[in-house]
Amino acid sequence: MRHLAKKHPLAIRWFHWINFPLLAMMIWSGILIYWAYPAYLKLDQTTWRALKINNRLAEGMALHFFFMWLFAGNGVLYVLYTLLSGEWRELVPRRGTLREAWQVLLHDLRIRKEPLPRVKFNGAQRIAYTSVIVMGLGSLVSGLAIYKPVQFAWLAWLFGGYQGARFVHFALTVGYVLFFLVHIAQVIRAGWNNFRAMVIGVEVVNE
Ligand code: HEM
Repeated sequence: MRHLAKKHPLAIRWFHWINFPLLAMMIWSGILIYWAYPAYLKLDQTTWRALKINNRLAEGMALHFFFMWLFAGNGVLYVLYTLLSGEWRELVPRRGTLREAWQVLLHDLRIRKEPLPRVKFNGAQRIAYTSVIVMGLGSLVSGLAIYKPVQFAWLAWLFGGYQGARFVHFALTVGYVLFFLVHIAQVIRAGWNNFRAMVIGVEVVNE
């Protein structure tokens, strides 16, 4: 029998969909800042002129420092909601998560034939989603260390110094892009019912 089952609470759906354009804006303005690094001026500028991303340091910084407040606010509210509502139980890794993630990997590679457990988030999803939330925290902390290196010198120290904080900040951005590619591929693979649940909150279940 087919019926509708609740999947994603309204608040989570808002936080999720607000996060997407905010993160895109952070990456875009980050690229404008990144490309202004003086050493790159020595390189051939043709491609960057064509893409119109050269000489836009001030604009990149203004956008980055404006949208970071919204990105941080949305992220903090999401984490608070997830903790207070108890949704974290479905999200964070627990005992057996690694084994389950391995089974999901084998299943996705079509090596393992048994069906996956019918849970909200399987082991691979728990690890991926929790990691991307921790990465968000890492971006905020390493960003703060670069933003105010004198006032937050102790934060930079956590990353092995200013250059270490810059490296982590950059590496996390690459991490988001990789997460995004896998996330989108998996969402497409999982199909319309799964995607629609992230929009309207309910999914169709076939008993
Ligand atoms: C076009 C862009 C995106 C689409 C279509 C999309 C789609 C989805 C869907 C359908 C789900 C539910 C998946 C499931 O049942 O496993 C989901 C969950 C999730 N997505 Fe995305 N997503 C997008 C962008 C992003 C981005 C940019 C991030 C963060 C970097 C992100 C992080 C997450 C997280 C953490 C969850 C779990 C949320 C929770 O239940 O607490 N997504 N996404």
